[in-house]
Amino acid sequence: MPLPEKIGFIGTGAITDAMVRGLLAEPAAVPHVMVSQRSADVSARLAADFPQVLVSGDNQAIVDGCDTVVLAIRPQIAEEVIRPLKFRDRQKVISVIAATSREALLDWIRADVRLSQAIPLPFVARRKGVTAIYPPDADTAVLFNVLGNAVECETKAEYDLLAAASALMATYFGIMHRTTEWLAENGLPEEKGRAYLAPLFASLSETAIFVGKDADFIDLSREFATKGGLNEQVFEDFERNDGIEALRRALGRILKRIEQ
Ligand SMILES: NC(=O)c1ccc[n+]([C@@H]2O[C@H](COP(=O)([O-])OP(=O)(O)OC[C@H]3O[C@@H](n4cnc5c(N)ncnc54)[C@H](OP(=O)(O)O)[C@@H]3O)[C@@H](O)[C@H]2O)c1
Repeated sequence: MPLPEKIGFIGTGAITDAMVRGLLAEPAAVPHVMVSQRSADVSARLAADFPQVLVSGDNQAIVDGCDTVVLAIRPQIAEEVIRPLKFRDRQKVISVIAATSREALLDWIRADVRLSQAIPLPFVARRKGVTAIYPPDADTAVLFNVLGNAVECETKAEYDLLAAASALMATYFGIMHRTTEWLAENGLPEEKGRAYLAPLFASLSETAIFVGKDADFIDLSREFATKGGLNEQVFEDFERNDGIEALRRALGRILKRIEQ
């Protein structure tokens, strides 16, 4: 499946910035990118950094000028931005707008477009983002595989579940922060705690990716928990003190919010 010749972005905020930087990192994956002027500082910086980027103050000109259009505005204003636009039948449209259903998007678009939804994460800027996409679509998968890995969801339920899992990012850093804080309270300089924890957590994730399908996470958990050892004790404490239940409850609550 080919990558788009001309990809346009409606809404040039944080996630568009990350996607464009990922797509145009050397060697560039696409030849032409159009971005809407807003946010003006972000679009100006992208145009300054990449000769392939054209900025337009007219959202319709982006839809008309591109074969693939990415909708990257906030959900609160999505309808008022999308409704006035005229899309072409069979045009490729990728919405990264959170908490906005496929039905609502198609109702606002009012054309027989090929619509995908995606949850890109900021790591796409370094081509290291894992992106859930729905429904499965070869063109969309090719694009997000350039930016890291695309995970194609067969159902809306699968897509919502991955959206819920992506809500763990702040908690991940929160655990690192609380641990660094605790280390500091007990006498370890904060920068040493940071310098130790970030590579430790990175190595754990690398291990999980490396072993792939050969081991479940629980196998790895056991492998890293020597009988009667320190890791085993912390995990048991975490379970006994409701840590796992707190995690499951938080995920359940977030899923309910996503499904609304
Ligand atoms: N950030 C993430 O990691 C992430 C990940 C996945 C999905 N998303 C979703 O992606 C969407 C964008 O997120 P974001 O973080 O990039 O938000 P953001 O930084 O607030 O960007 C939204 C952009 O939309 C622009 N905009 C507002 N009205 C517009 C209009 N009429 N025409 C064109 N552009 C307009 C804003 O410009 P002004 O600043 O000039 O108002 C801003 O540049 C959201 O729905 C979010 O949920 C974000």
